Amino acid sequence: MNRRIVLARRPVGMPRPEDFAVSEAELPEPGDGQVLLRHSWLGLAPAARLRMGEEASYTRPMAIGDVVYGQAVGTVLKSRHPELREGDMVVTISGGWQEHSVAGGSGLSRIDLSIAPAAAWLGALGTSGMTAYVGLLDHGRPRPGDTVLVSAASGAVGCMVGQLARLKGCRAIGIAGGPVKCELARDLYGFDACVDYRAPDFAEQLVAACPDGVDILFENVGGAGRDAAWALLNQRARVVVCGLISEYNGEHASGPSWFPILFKRLSLSGFILSDHLDRRPEFVREMGAWYAAGQVRMKEDVRHGLAQVVPSFIDMLGGANVGKTLISL
Ligand SMILES: NC(=O)c1ccc[n+]([C@@H]2O[C@H](COP(=O)([O-])OP(=O)(O)OC[C@H]3O[C@@H](n4cnc5c(N)ncnc54)[C@H](OP(=O)(O)O)[C@@H]3O)[C@@H](O)[C@H]2O)c1
Repeated sequence: MNRRIVLARRPVGMPRPEDFAVSEAELPEPGDGQVLLRHSWLGLAPAARLRMGEEASYTRPMAIGDVVYGQAVGTVLKSRHPELREGDMVVTISGGWQEHSVAGGSGLSRIDLSIAPAAAWLGALGTSGMTAYVGLLDHGRPRPGDTVLVSAASGAVGCMVGQLARLKGCRAIGIAGGPVKCELARDLYGFDACVDYRAPDFAEQLVAACPDGVDILFENVGGAGRDAAWALLNQRARVVVCGLISEYNGEHASGPSWFPILFKRLSLSGFILSDHLDRRPEFVREMGAWYAAGQVRMKEDVRHGLAQVVPSFIDMLGGANVGKTLISL
């Protein structure tokens, strides 16, 4: 049998445990080109919250009763895939909050444990790292000397953006919630500075941290932090809109003026990782080498067992996670 966490009702505001239910189902059978997996790790993603609402986002909403969306690492139990065999370890971008899944297509890849341990394929070498890689390198187009400003800087995507920015010769400035996360951004990830958005003088601190303005704004959060960063953009700055987590629970901040887009000839680039899965081989080659050389790292926030999935997800949306939120099964 397969234990799964399904959407029981659509959350209003911050999700609550009653919005989800545990259900059991027969193990699914893989079709042509697919594998049956036993999950050993689940990676929780804020984007799951976007799919719980009724409105379409960049993808269709989940139906009530659907298994909740998320990434997973697992072992192949049965294979009808031409290149995967029983016992292979793989990562899937859509394994879901469950113990087993059937997977295939471009979101399924073998993992190499000689490069990094299994959990890292959901973090630095998984969708979090790849989001930073594609977002910063392809959309941000960093040049040595640029100032790169990143929100949710100590989180899974944000910490990778900061480390990549430093590897590319940029100045990395973070925004994060609280002194502990700011310290992590500076001490573990090498950010040049990190500003606490909860500090009463946040806007002044941000100006002081970016004396040459901002050339790349990597936006993970939206809301008040984004508004403060907006005023610091230089001419021809690139704004990479990766996520707007502060609005996922239905709270909308007032928007900034869009005149700077015109006056400063800005490029504003929204992107969704699943459109860029063809970049994975290059990402794994480059990021794998940086990871193996200790040039990039990611703190993991690990909890154990399926029962911890919902509380961990709620913690993550509220900022109580420190590092990539992972469930070990
Ligand atoms: N475009 C894509 O394809 C793509 C792919 C993956 C992820 N993303 C986006 O990237 C962003 C980061 O995701 P992640 O997986 O790396 O999560 P994460 O940063 O590890 O965890 C989420 C963090 O968001 C911050 N946060 C939550 N609510 C906030 C609020 N109201 N105001 C300010 N900060 C808040 C919290 O950090 P603080 O305590 O520092 O506030 C929290 O720890 C999300 O917006 C996600 O949707 C986009």
